[in-house]
Amino acid sequence: MTDDIQKTHTTTGGEPYPSDENSLTVGSDGPIVLHDHFLMEQMAAFNREMIADRQPHAKGGGAFGHFEVTEDVSKYTKAKFLQKGVKTDMVARFSTVAGESGSPDTWRDPRGFALKFYTEEGNFDMVGNNTPVFFVRDPMKFQHFIHSQKRRADNGLRDHDMQWDFWTQSPESAHQVTWLMGDRGVPATWRHMNGYSSHTYMWVNAEGERFWVKYHFKTDQGIKCMTQEQADQMAGNDADYHRRDLFEAIKRGEHPTWTLHVQVMPYEDAKTYRINPFDLTKVWPHEDYPLIKVGKMTLDENPVDFHTQIEQAAFEPNNMVPGTGVSPDKMLLARTISYADAHRARLGVNYKQIPVNVPKSPVNSYTKGGAMRVQNVSDPVYAPNTKGGAHANPGMYPANNVWEADGEMVREAYKLRKDDGDFNQANDLVNKVMNDEERDRLVNNVSGHLSDGVGEDVLQRAFEYWRNVDATIGERIEKTVRENLKAA
Ligand code: NDP
Ligand code: HEM
Repeated sequence: MTDDIQKTHTTTGGEPYPSDENSLTVGSDGPIVLHDHFLMEQMAAFNREMIADRQPHAKGGGAFGHFEVTEDVSKYTKAKFLQKGVKTDMVARFSTVAGESGSPDTWRDPRGFALKFYTEEGNFDMVGNNTPVFFVRDPMKFQHFIHSQKRRADNGLRDHDMQWDFWTQSPESAHQVTWLMGDRGVPATWRHMNGYSSHTYMWVNAEGERFWVKYHFKTDQGIKCMTQEQADQMAGNDADYHRRDLFEAIKRGEHPTWTLHVQVMPYEDAKTYRINPFDLTKVWPHEDYPLIKVGKMTLDENPVDFHTQIEQAAFEPNNMVPGTGVSPDKMLLARTISYADAHRARLGVNYKQIPVNVPKSPVNSYTKGGAMRVQNVSDPVYAPNTKGGAHANPGMYPANNVWEADGEMVREAYKLRKDDGDFNQANDLVNKVMNDEERDRLVNNVSGHLSDGVGEDVLQRAFEYWRNVDATIGERIEKTVRENLKAA
């Protein structure tokens, strides 16, 4: 093939374009003819370039890299990609939650921290956030929560009244809201934030011993945050600041890394621990379950096509490998079915054949057909069969890769344990973790938010909510909001 042909602009079918500038017309001033299929393909492809945004987490960016296990954690899990010395390719995507795909990166919001590990036993996804907890603990409330953070039906605007109306009627949100309104609610860059599984997962070792585990990816760049003023300014100056920062850092050869630590809880402890260990609004205090180092994740390769490699990346918490598993956290269990459903709706039933989602391990699935299938299927197309087809392999799973459950079907909240109060850990965060300056910024951030369009009835509930977090912080927030409103 000559260079000339290599660089010739062609249709998607490979037919050389006769012109990049002129459509086919009847005479130079005459009408366009319908059979100019070059023009037609260009217009039609353009009209179909956009795909639906992810419902939440629409704005983000990502990169490729690898994860290397540096410590021996085989006494907790038999997963092959978690054995010392194993290096696994991966892709990461970071995001905001509430904004649309063009929205500013520096809006105050949790950040998504979604990882896909291409392990030799299939893809393992850890779809976490930069916060160790979440706003609600029952999946029935998730869609309502996200609606309250996005846009109103009438004017299409975001609305602080709606946000606080939801939060103040959901006291379990207090821990996450305190976290969000603190310094870490706006990371300086994605490179300078931690990632947490938030949920409790299961690990099982080769002997079939079970453990509960929480993942903590700690940034090796150090935590850095933006103040509200810096974030507001940046939202105007460069809406894509975080996406740009990651891409340019990797391009410069500054490859960000995170050290994975886990908290491990012996299986039986969960039954009697003073906090429900599956309640997503709670952390496990480090003094009870210290961090155990596992390995290092490095991002060192930028996408070459943002659309195919990042927009079409499909993360799903149900992507598990033997030696890992889910826990009875109701939110996590709902997520194991929600994400694959979202991908089928957004990307089509064969989304796992899009290269970024294809495992680097053998795929021997009996699914067939469907729109946009590109991998060939071969006979036999059913199981069980006597024709040499693939068969299930229970031996790959350790004994006990499950947990037990018993009881009547009910619609009830988790049973409360001794230290399960909604405000306890929010209070710890305010008083044991934040210093005076951080508390001042917390008061200012909350007061600024509440002084912007929140009605009196919701305000009253918000002051009560913050007094429940901490009496002094509550008083200070009420005083500042009243002053702000008077000055307005
Ligand atoms: P520790 O003192 O052992 O840990 C405090 C944790 O808080 C550290 O992980 C620290 O992260 C993090 N932190 C520091 N400043 C802030 C901030 N402004 N906003 C959010 N997190 C911050 O305490 P405990 O384990 O007993 O937990 C106490 C409180 O700390 C909890 O109520 C929770 O809100 C918060 N926290 C706890 C985590 C956990 O898994 N136990 C994880 C993250 C937060 P770093 O070391 O990276 O600076
Ligand atoms: C994205 C549902 C809770 C982290 C999404 C998407 C859905 C969803 C439908 C869009 C998926 C897509 O189109 O690609 C839910 C439900 C939840 C829940 C039903 C609770 C019941 C959580 C929690 C976390 C989380 C608790 C973090 C711990 C993420 C992340 C993304 C995402 C990081 C973006 C993934 C990406 O980068 O593609 N969620 N979610 N979600 N969610 Fe959740």
